[in-house]
Amino acid sequence: MKRRSTKLVPEMGAICLVTLVFMFIVPLAVASKENGENSLSTYIVHLKKPKGVFAQAVDLDGWYRSFLPVTIPGQRTQMVFSYQNVVTGFAAKLTAEEAEAMKRKEGIKSVWPEKVYSLHTTHSPDFMGLQQNLGFWNQSNYGRGVIIGVLDTGITPGHPSFSDEGMPPPPAKWKGKCVFEGGCNNKLIGARSFVEGEVGPPADEEGHGTHTASTAGGNFVKGANVFGNANGTASGMAPLAHLAMYKVCGAGCSESAILAAMDAAVEDGVDVLSLSLGGGSIPFYMDSIALGAFTAIQKGVFVSCSAGNEGPSYGTLSNEAPWILTVGASTTDRSIAAVPKLGNGLTFDGESLYQPNDFPSMLLPLVYSGANGKAASAFCAPGSLKDVDVKGKVVLCERGGDIGRIDKGQEVKDNGGAAMILMNDKLNGFSTIADPHVLPATHVGYETGLSIQKYINSTMNPTATIIFKGTVLGKQTAPEVTSFSSRGPSLQSFGILKPDIIGPGVSILAAWPVSVENKTNTNSTFNMISGTSMSCPHLSGIAALLKSSHPDWSPAAIKSAIMTTASLVNLGGNTIVDETNTTADIFATGAGHVNPSKANDPGLIYDIQPDDYIPYLCGLNYTDEEVGTIVQQTVNCSSESIIAEAELNYPSFSILLAESGGSQTYTRTVTNVGPASSSYTYEVFVPTGVDVSVKPEEIAFTEVNQKQTYSVTFSRQKNISLPFSQGLLKWVSAQHDVNTPIVAIFE
Ligand SMILES: *[C@@H]1O[C@H](CO)[C@@H](O)[C@H](O)[C@H]1NC(C)=O
Ligand SMILES: *[C@@H]1O[C@H](CO)[C@@H](O)[C@H](O)[C@H]1NC(C)=O
Ligand SMILES: *[C@@H]1O[C@H](CO)[C@@H](O)[C@H](O)[C@H]1NC(C)=O
Ligand SMILES: *[C@@H]1O[C@H](CO)[C@@H](O)[C@H](O)[C@H]1NC(C)=O
Ligand SMILES: *[C@@H]1O[C@H](CO)[C@@H](O)[C@H](O)[C@H]1NC(C)=O
Ligand SMILES: *[C@@H]1O[C@H](CO)[C@@H](O)[C@H](O)[C@H]1NC(C)=O
Ligand SMILES: *[C@@H]1O[C@H](CO)[C@@H](O)[C@H](O)[C@H]1NC(C)=O
Ligand SMILES: *[C@@H]1O[C@H](CO)[C@@H](O)[C@H](O)[C@H]1NC(C)=O
Ligand SMILES: *[C@@H]1O[C@H](CO)[C@@H](O)[C@H](O)[C@H]1NC(C)=O
Repeated sequence: MKRRSTKLVPEMGAICLVTLVFMFIVPLAVASKENGENSLSTYIVHLKKPKGVFAQAVDLDGWYRSFLPVTIPGQRTQMVFSYQNVVTGFAAKLTAEEAEAMKRKEGIKSVWPEKVYSLHTTHSPDFMGLQQNLGFWNQSNYGRGVIIGVLDTGITPGHPSFSDEGMPPPPAKWKGKCVFEGGCNNKLIGARSFVEGEVGPPADEEGHGTHTASTAGGNFVKGANVFGNANGTASGMAPLAHLAMYKVCGAGCSESAILAAMDAAVEDGVDVLSLSLGGGSIPFYMDSIALGAFTAIQKGVFVSCSAGNEGPSYGTLSNEAPWILTVGASTTDRSIAAVPKLGNGLTFDGESLYQPNDFPSMLLPLVYSGANGKAASAFCAPGSLKDVDVKGKVVLCERGGDIGRIDKGQEVKDNGGAAMILMNDKLNGFSTIADPHVLPATHVGYETGLSIQKYINSTMNPTATIIFKGTVLGKQTAPEVTSFSSRGPSLQSFGILKPDIIGPGVSILAAWPVSVENKTNTNSTFNMISGTSMSCPHLSGIAALLKSSHPDWSPAAIKSAIMTTASLVNLGGNTIVDETNTTADIFATGAGHVNPSKANDPGLIYDIQPDDYIPYLCGLNYTDEEVGTIVQQTVNCSSESIIAEAELNYPSFSILLAESGGSQTYTRTVTNVGPASSSYTYEVFVPTGVDVSVKPEEIAFTEVNQKQTYSVTFSRQKNISLPFSQGLLKWVSAQHDVNTPIVAIFE
């Protein structure tokens, strides 16, 4: 298939720093100095599983230490983390030579320099149909008793989102620690830092972790708003769930810390893990998030991760393992409207979180910052407007050029500009974001930007103003897939459709450590930020609700319920669109937009037991050792009944069809979680260029939890020139629609 190589330029800025993700994996070893003691780097060391079983953690630790190079005692600390659950191995500070020597030792599987992973809502519960005292929220008891572990930048105790009003004490199984003195309560039950050199509590200097944690499980807070906008009652998706923060991100999110945090979280007894960070596409046996997540699902812990912010190009996902829920980002029906009005009377849609109430409605001179022909000026890069006359004017700046959206406004403001119109580049199309700008501003789509440029060209004295209209709800085209949301296919496993799901990730209001308006007299501080980092915790919270209402469901069952009930249309009943304002494809939406209430009652589920992944992993042609690293047991692929990737009992189909290949048949097993006596017949929305046949015609159940198997045969028609096409297999009963998305990739 064709993959565009264009990369969305990361936009660094005060706010977007954390939310727009860079997927590059930088081995720390390269970054460190190459001399003396400074040449020490953290390495992740995987060992062959020992024959015997260690009675105690301390024995395992002792065995790990026996692999460390001999140094003068007390000279330096080599061991960084000694892993107990997620992998057989440890993280240690080594020189490059020591690491090389260690690789050759008997019993060592692999030694690699640790990677650095990057960090990738008053209204969203309501938008997703969750209402107080009604339906699913009530039925799931708001996630009561469920523990959500969040790996992030830390947390802000004392914030009203983390108040424990109405919260029961943590369940007896909870073994975690909370190191905030006086800051912990029945809401925030765990808080530790794994960041190197940080001994104190996991304070959030960044904001990202406070925001994601409150989105997943924040308590109700009345009158939450930013600059008065989006005012309402804020709450997380699971407002009565407990939260545990595992701080893993300081300057970056180090792999050794992520692994250590997941190791601790599964031991502590979390039920759901939420990771709004990622490291790009990495083979599962080398991806510490995938490794940690596998151990988590073995213990029944659900793992939700952000898909990445590298869209809209294809093949840009992070966190692709099939045992992880991979979450893309979409808009909500709320916009914080800032309408640009031109001298010719034309008005357009635009957004800004900062809404000054004293901005004059009179027309001001309008200027295009790039009129001097300089790219830096067009992007309103820092220092680029020194020689441009912007004083008292409305300045049209272009998005991109590796400059933060808010920083562009700062440059306009610093040079005396009155306001900014920020126009998208072509790639970002119609996707706009309500940012906390530093001056009167509006963010508009690419075509609107072109119209404004055209107007500027058409007149000697172009003028414009911005009309601030505040919070506007009910946008019928919501949800839309936003431009930055990373897209499939999964580069590690073409036979699994990814992302799995989309959820709210644009202009999300949630808790923040400080006031972005410089108000100091309140702890009730909020901010609105965007990213798949924001959509991930929405799904983590929803998984907690499902866990609460269906304690016996496995992580795969919860995921299946979320996927097969997802919505394929927007509020207006039309297909979901992307940043081009045309129908979003399946590599953007996955199974569609999460519908929590429907997920609570899916009718059928596609279940997967942890050991079912072994034949799948062998089918990826991983070595026995690589599969063993993931599943933490000795594996012999030649004695497994290896399956093709697409044969995994996944709630979607991703089928590679070669020109000359024959037909391919896959089976699926569904479990009845609806009424005991129910029967389903199918409808197929056939992907263009593919013949699909399904057997049997009907599947019937007489008991709850009864399983039935069906098979689907796919064959490619002649003369297909598409890269891929998509369809849907729908099992329909009197009460339920079980949607199973299909993508056919033409090789
Ligand atoms: C809410 O759920 C409880 C049980 O958890 C039930 O007794 C009550 O009737 C429900 N309330 C509504 C309004 O559905
Ligand atoms: C704000 O939070 C701190 C804890 O960080 C707490 O001591 C203080 O009482 C809180 N203030 C208000 C007004 O709730
Ligand atoms: C937010 O809404 C509440 C309740 O409707 C109201 O009392 C409060 O003044 C509002 N705050 C702002 C900043 O609009
Ligand atoms: C505006 O004029 C400039 C300079 O002549 C030209 O390069 C640009 O394409 C024009 N823009 C539009 C949208 O017409
Ligand atoms: C907040 O206050 C500080 C110090 O008074 C000031 O430097 C900063 O610009 C203010 N920030 C905003 C967003 O107003
Ligand atoms: C998107 O497309 C629809 C239908 O094609 C159209 O009605 C709508 O105006 C478009 N939206 C924008 C922002 O141009
Ligand atoms: C694994 O190897 C077999 C045999 O070479 C090949 O047919 C198959 O496509 C490979 N699978 C993957 C996922 O690469
Ligand atoms: C793996 O299984 C095959 C087939 O059962 C067997 O021949 C082979 O000896 C096994 N390999 C190991 C290392 O146990
Ligand atoms: C397939 O396309 C080729 C070239 O366009 C054409 O010659 C041939 O007749 C087509 N075959 C079928 C079955 O349509």
